Amino acid sequence: MKFFIDTANLDEIKEAYALGILDGVTTNPSLMAKEGIKGQDNIIAHYKAICDIVEDNVSAEVIATDFEGMIKEGENLASISPKIVVKIPMIKDGIKAIKYLSGKGIRTNCTLIFSAGQALLAAKAGATYVSPFIGRLDDINQDGTELIAQIVHIFDNYQLQTQVLAASIRHTMHLITCAEIGSHVATCPLKVITGLLNHPLTDSGLSKFLEDYKKSQS
Ligand code: E4P
Repeated sequence: MKFFIDTANLDEIKEAYALGILDGVTTNPSLMAKEGIKGQDNIIAHYKAICDIVEDNVSAEVIATDFEGMIKEGENLASISPKIVVKIPMIKDGIKAIKYLSGKGIRTNCTLIFSAGQALLAAKAGATYVSPFIGRLDDINQDGTELIAQIVHIFDNYQLQTQVLAASIRHTMHLITCAEIGSHVATCPLKVITGLLNHPLTDSGLSKFLEDYKKSQS
């Protein structure tokens, strides 16, 4: 499973990249706003800075919601770097834009997926990734990981090339369940990635090893 980090914070991206396990980055307009990135020039510069840190797969989201606007913005974002994946919302013109951009060889990530039907449409249009938001489904009493399983199953049935990118991941168990299901990618906050490191038996075991080593040396 590929690990993406879901943030526009450069320090967090650097920290995850330094672990040597990072495969990409997802951003969205809310995450960019959280970092105080305002104005088109600064937004482009910020995407460039992210592309300078990681090797591939930097999702950059369009703001336009009409076909012409999305393809113009998408082509502009894609011209920043070959690492860019253009993030397009799951709306009717978004499907048309995904079809157009994928025909031009531009990778796309269809965002705001909340049903298997939406995922299937985006895959048929040629999306590189579909992003089902599992945490936001959990928030409304629907098991988000069940949707991941359903989409993985459908894509497997037809050997669709589109990859399932589990998004809106809130905790480590979301990530582990997505891995069990066979989600191709998971994008998560840094705390979820580093949360995988933790186990109290690792900590107590290491303390004991070090303590015994010290004793053996005295
Ligand atoms: C993914 O691409 C989205 O940016 C993200 O995972 C949304 O997560 P949230 O529901 O925590 O905002």
